[in-house]
Amino acid sequence: MTVVQLHPAAAVTDAVKVYGIGATRVRALDHVTVEFPAGRFTAIMGPSGSGKSTLMHCAAGLDTLSAGSAHIGGTELGTLNDRRLTELRRERIGFVFQSFNLVPTLTVRENITLPLDLAGRAPDAAWVDALVEVVGLGDRLHHRPAELSGGQQQRVAVARALAGRPQVVFADEPTGNLDSRSGAEVLGLLRQAVDTMDQAVVMVTHDPTAAGYADRVLFLADGRLVDSMDTPTADRVLDRMKAFDAPAATGRPAGTGSTAARAATARAATPDTARSAAAGPRESDRR
Ligand SMILES: Nc1ncnc2c1ncn2[C@@H]1O[C@H](COP(=O)(O)OP(=O)(O)OP(=O)(O)O)[C@@H](O)[C@H]1O
Ligand SMILES: [Mg+2]
Repeated sequence: MTVVQLHPAAAVTDAVKVYGIGATRVRALDHVTVEFPAGRFTAIMGPSGSGKSTLMHCAAGLDTLSAGSAHIGGTELGTLNDRRLTELRRERIGFVFQSFNLVPTLTVRENITLPLDLAGRAPDAAWVDALVEVVGLGDRLHHRPAELSGGQQQRVAVARALAGRPQVVFADEPTGNLDSRSGAEVLGLLRQAVDTMDQAVVMVTHDPTAAGYADRVLFLADGRLVDSMDTPTADRVLDRMKAFDAPAATGRPAGTGSTAARAATARAATPDTARSAAAGPRESDRR
């Protein structure tokens, strides 16, 4: 069956975000236009301070744009009042954060169904069971987060994000606190959601290996979209990041020369990242 999508799952158009005033004024997003379609896994990369989280937060209605527009499906976020925005976030968006954000007093199953419970929606038991099966936590359903490893907790967070069948899942450095094996499990899960459920996934990451799981990588620098790469591999992403770091590199985008951008690019291309890239799965192993 061919499903015609009228709107991408999420999009921002000519997005500008300015924080602060006067001397402390920062242009965190500088006229960014991007679409996040269903069934597509998009990674967002770039130096620290380049606007990755800001882009994600504005696209997900966690923060408002200074100019431009953000859509979830056909809904423009700027037209919603606070209550409707909260409802939209609860019903149509799933979130995965670096720090898991599970509720310590709730069991695994209760954490997974929490957004639905808050929204007063009855969880689809068969769907929740299927998710629990996919995340491989069937024998841990009645445990509390503190009784789980970091990777297991993040798998719960992914299941929670998917439980309400959201239009789009936003993940901000979901593997940032995980070892490479746990990270691979979480990334595999996100990949599976895209491939089998036509989920739209948008993930911010500093890790080329993580970006290698995506269908497309967007590169931000100084609040601007400066490059993109389709069907990325960890090696190609790493090469692209190195090019960012080389002042003499041709095609270096304008505006990446700020001290913050330079410091951050250096951080983004640390030997740690290189090591994890070398240790990560090859493209052919994960599809
Ligand atoms: N609430 C805020 N108030 C003022 N400035 C902010 C705020 N949030 C972010 N910024 C600034 O906006 C810019 C972009 O920040 P953002 O958090 O989007 O970067 P990032 O790419 O996610 O970085 P990192 O990789 O370190 O998470 C930075 O210069 C940051 O200092
Ligand atoms: Mg960030």
